Amino acid sequence: MTLYGEIRSLAEKKNALILAHNYQNPQIQDAADHVGDSLELARVAASNSASIIVFCGVHFMAESAYILSPSKKVLLPDITAGCPMADMVTAAALRAKKKELPNAKVVTYINSPADAKAESDVICTSSNAVKIVQNIDADEILFVPDKNLGNWVSRFTDKKIHLWDGYCPIHALITADEIIRIKQEHPDALLMVHPECSPEIINLADEVFSTGEMVRFVQKTDKKKIIVGTESGMIHKLKKAAPDKEFILASENFFCKNMKKTTLEKVLAALKSEEPVVTVPDETADRARLALEKMLELSR
Ligand code: 13P
Ligand code: SF4
Repeated sequence: MTLYGEIRSLAEKKNALILAHNYQNPQIQDAADHVGDSLELARVAASNSASIIVFCGVHFMAESAYILSPSKKVLLPDITAGCPMADMVTAAALRAKKKELPNAKVVTYINSPADAKAESDVICTSSNAVKIVQNIDADEILFVPDKNLGNWVSRFTDKKIHLWDGYCPIHALITADEIIRIKQEHPDALLMVHPECSPEIINLADEVFSTGEMVRFVQKTDKKKIIVGTESGMIHKLKKAAPDKEFILASENFFCKNMKKTTLEKVLAALKSEEPVVTVPDETADRARLALEKMLELSR
C-alpha cells in the first residue's frame, strides 16, 4: 500500500480526522480531510465527531483544536513545529501590559500560545480580525501579537488600537523592491497579499486576504494571472481551487520551515502511535476557550 493509502485507511479505522493548514506541503494537503485557513480549521475542530484530530500545521493550531474540543486526542505529527510569531507574546508580558492599559480590551491573534489566549477577551484570525475589532464592545483595543495585522485592522476602525511588537518573520522577509520588480515583470497580474505583510507591502497590493479568502477570491475573479504574497504552500491550494488561472509566488522567501516540517511519514507514525499529543492544562484551557468561543460568536 502507498503511504497515502496507509494513512487514509488507518485514519478511517481510528475515526481520526486529518486537518491541514493551507501552507502545508502538497502531499499533506492531498491526504487531509480538510484543508483551510486558521478560522476554517478551528470551526471544523469545534464541530466534528472524530476521536482523534491529526493537526498538520503548527503548535498553536493544535492547541486551539484541543481547547475547542478537549475530549479528543489532538496529535501534532512534528512536535517541534512552532510559530515564531506566537512565541513573541507570553502570558506574563500580556498581564503586565494589561495593567498599563486598564481600559483596553485584548484582541489576540490565534497565532499565540494558549496561556496568552487565556489572558484575552477575544481571539481573532486574519479572516475575521476586522469584524472582531469592529464588533467588540470597546473603544480601546490592545491587539496582540501581530503588529502588521493590527495595523491593517486599524484602517477599518476609529477605535484606539495599541499594537504589540510581534510579527511573522516569514512575511517580514519580503521587500518592497522585490514586489515592485515582480509587478513590473507581470504588469497584467493582480497582486494579493496576506495581512501579516508589512504596511509598505500592503500599500502595493491590489487585495489583502487571509489564506481562506484568497481561495474564495480566485474562484470568482475574472483575473487570469495572480501574484501571491504569502507562504508557498498556497500555490498548490490555489491551483486546485482555480486550475484555469496562473499563480506566481511573489518571493521564494515565502517559505515557513515550521509549516513544512510535517511529512506523510510523520503523519502515519502519529496515527500509529497516537503521539505526539498536544494538551493544555484545564484551567488555562477553560479561560482560553471563552476567548475562542467569543471569536466564533462575533464572527458568525
Ligand atoms: P490564515 O490561514 O488564517 O490566513 O493564517 C496564516 C498564518 O500565518 C497561519 O500561521
Ligand atoms: Fe507563524 Fe509566519 Fe509560519 Fe504562519 S507563516 S506559522 S505566522 S512563522
